[in-house]
Amino acid sequence: MKVLIVGSGGREHAIAQSVAKSPKADKIYCAPGNAGIGQIAECVPIGAMEFDKLVAFAKEKEIGLVIVGMDDPLVGGLVDEMEKAGIRTFGPRKNAAILEGSKAFSKDLMKRYGIPTAGYETFDQPQDALAYLEMIEFPIVLKADGLALGKGVLICDNLEQAREGVKAIMQDKQFGSAGNRLVVEQFMKGREVSVLAFVDGRTIKTMTSAQDHKRAYDDDLGPNTGGMGTFSPSPFYTKEIDDFCQKYIYQATVNAMAAEGREFKGVIFFGLMLTEFGPRVLEYNARFGDPEAQVVLPRMKNDIIEVLEACIDGRLDEVDLQFEENAAVCVVLASEGYPVNYEKGFPIKGLEKFDGQDSYFCFHAGTVKTDQGIVTNGGRVLGVTAKGSDLKEARANAYEAAQWVSFENKYMRHDIGKAIDEA
Ligand code: GLY
Repeated sequence: MKVLIVGSGGREHAIAQSVAKSPKADKIYCAPGNAGIGQIAECVPIGAMEFDKLVAFAKEKEIGLVIVGMDDPLVGGLVDEMEKAGIRTFGPRKNAAILEGSKAFSKDLMKRYGIPTAGYETFDQPQDALAYLEMIEFPIVLKADGLALGKGVLICDNLEQAREGVKAIMQDKQFGSAGNRLVVEQFMKGREVSVLAFVDGRTIKTMTSAQDHKRAYDDDLGPNTGGMGTFSPSPFYTKEIDDFCQKYIYQATVNAMAAEGREFKGVIFFGLMLTEFGPRVLEYNARFGDPEAQVVLPRMKNDIIEVLEACIDGRLDEVDLQFEENAAVCVVLASEGYPVNYEKGFPIKGLEKFDGQDSYFCFHAGTVKTDQGIVTNGGRVLGVTAKGSDLKEARANAYEAAQWVSFENKYMRHDIGKAIDEA
């Protein structure tokens, strides 16, 4: 089978690596891909939002399976366009990807179906939001309704910060049209956990848990990023918590989407907060997490193509989803200055050290192949992932491997997985 992966980040590299292990994959394409993906797939210079070109390419190459990795094309309806052209595609249709595409939608869904989450109000006008802020207690969370590269969430400790936040999101449009609508949410205290799950419209099967590190600097300081590193599994995600979530969150979400006539097929990413009152949904995403995929997929024992096809065909109940009983840690190597200002175009040295390794992986994100070799081409450059028999070993291995690679302005957090010591 020929497979086309849509996207260009570390997540898509991790997906491509899993697909490459499947005996069902004869040929892998990735649009647009990156330098690392180019070592296992043929990268095609078509952007993830160029739907007509992607569909034409898939038809011309007789692609047997398209996997859409990124949020923008999912929310924009790429799966619908592929399906109209008769091409089998993994990912939610537009009417289901709204679970990630609109925070107001997802909050309303949770409220309607009794899925545990923080209290909230939604506003279309800044003056209404500002009036509401006068009446509530802080801290609170402001969320731009639409997609904002993971950056449209502001935690505000007091009224002054919240007023500035409303201005930034709704008036100055710092996150573009994502800020046309605003969700004001109660702040929840606790530990964050990411749980990704395969869904076939009816059945949901969760993958092993993970924890992301969203802030740019050590000790969770600095601006929010796409994610600076992950570990998996989360030692805080106990069997008891899982039982609760399976019953009151995961299946309830799938059932709610089906009841709304928005059958969800693909991956649901549950961003959870483990609060003193129990687990609560912080956010949904309609895709694999990045860099969660980089610590979850390398530990999955199943043939990924079989699982994705089972989701498309509505027979996920037949799949026995299995993960290795070990651990993995991913440390993101970024360009100094990310996520604000950073330079690109620096040669990357040491990548060959990962060749032939089966417990160390270097997932490319912002890289490009040039006449000077592979150079930096983005804020998040690489995701160095290592496995270990337990989390501490995986963390030591990941930080050791992070030293194998060098480029000018290389920056990483030094406390990925620090929470493991508190478990
Ligand atoms: N790591 C968070 C995300 O993928 O949105």
